[in-house]
Amino acid sequence: MPKTGSTAPPAAAPKKNTASPARSARPKPAPASNRNSAKPAAAAPSRNSAKPSAATPSGSALEIKDTRTSKTYSIPVAEGAIRANDLKKIKTDNPDAFLEVAWLLRHGELPTQQEYDQFVHDITFHTYVHENMRKFLEGFRYDAHPMAILNSSIAGLASFYPSARNIFDETERNISIIRLLAKTPTIAAFSYRHVKGLPFVYPDNRLSYVENFLSMVARMSESKYEANPVFARALEILFILHADHEQNCSTSAVRGVGSSHVDPFSAVSAGVAALFGPLHGGANEQVLRMIKEIGTVKNVPKFIESVKSGEGGRLMGFGHRVYKSYDPRAKIVKKLADEVFNVVGVDKDLEIALELERIALADDYFVSRKLYPNVDFYTGLIYRSMAFPMDFFTVLFAIGRMPGWLAQWEEMLLDKEQKISRPRQIYIGAGERAYRSRLTEKASL
Ligand code: CMC
Repeated sequence: MPKTGSTAPPAAAPKKNTASPARSARPKPAPASNRNSAKPAAAAPSRNSAKPSAATPSGSALEIKDTRTSKTYSIPVAEGAIRANDLKKIKTDNPDAFLEVAWLLRHGELPTQQEYDQFVHDITFHTYVHENMRKFLEGFRYDAHPMAILNSSIAGLASFYPSARNIFDETERNISIIRLLAKTPTIAAFSYRHVKGLPFVYPDNRLSYVENFLSMVARMSESKYEANPVFARALEILFILHADHEQNCSTSAVRGVGSSHVDPFSAVSAGVAALFGPLHGGANEQVLRMIKEIGTVKNVPKFIESVKSGEGGRLMGFGHRVYKSYDPRAKIVKKLADEVFNVVGVDKDLEIALELERIALADDYFVSRKLYPNVDFYTGLIYRSMAFPMDFFTVLFAIGRMPGWLAQWEEMLLDKEQKISRPRQIYIGAGERAYRSRLTEKASL
């Protein structure tokens, strides 16, 4: 639950700042048509060379500071007016960089401007879900875990789009991929609102992917939601960081289930189910629960001892099946956490997390087993600072991982050598035995 108490939604009411950063001054995002005409940053780095300040003309001018980029622009004033065209040079980084990454994962190349514009447009216009889906969501109990809601709702999408079963039809595959990328944030946000007892907020096509998601989660009565830019940026980076990670448990689940040639909604729901587990994506939630249980910094050594003795369970957010050194994503997350804490104030549990890390990294138990912080160790602290409830953290991971699951699903389908998943098993049970029913056996006293 957010520290703000009540049903205060994330982002709109961070707990440690009376300034309500979500509502802090922020230039209005450009309308979709303008937004989409901006070249993606990675594809066209020159786009941001909008010559702020340097090109200040002589004579009177209007100074404009863009708080998103901290750049200032000098707009010439002639006869008491400015030219609308001069405002066009005020641009920001690609607000939909996550979608650019999603395209890259599927196609192996960054999109051209035209491809990108079409992709963003398609996703923007498929964010709505069928009204029956809304009724379906309303059927869940008030305290349902949002991952359980997400998992079953994504599987349920298969019933709305039966033609998605034509998985070898490229057009069908394409629209299913668009639908999953577009509707997952909507379903995720609806699951949040349902649990909170808040009315559902419908998608706003004027907003970027991340801002629209935050709007559906946090918007209350305002006519147009304006996300805190620091939160929107942090979430965008976290989505990108989570977008794909080779053959992890959930991706293998998507590939394994998809190898039966089932529709993509069913295949991806298997990935959501796998991600839910505490050893995988569910770890971000468990880290915070663990920290809550530890309570104060002085209890950390005792907790570490209980982990080492096996009594206290695992140190959540530590260790990785592949990384046997510091997870490179964890380094980025830790830095990002500082940026978010600068806005909302330092999370009270950061101190406990840092102490856990300090002690574990110096302890032979963890060092000899090559156990280092993984991506989930600090993400929970960021999400909580944005006032997301603990059980919503893994949902955020799932939104980020969606492009990876889909790209891997399609890659698997188009691989000519791919067969149905069927791991071999070596039988080590009993040898041949004669049948002897035990149904009528009396229990011996
Ligand atoms: N805390 C304490 N001991 C651990 C931990 C941990 N977090 N992780 C592994 N160990 C020990 C384990 O008990 C075993 O010790 P021993 O050799 O004495 O039996 C040894 O280290 C090797 O364990 P393992 O289970 O064979 O290691 P693995 O590489 O197969 O497991 C893991 C990887 C991520 C499942 C595991 O490290 C773990 O459970 N971590 C905690 C959960 C977590 O943070 N998961 C997020 C993973 S990263 C993001 C994602 O995939 O979602």
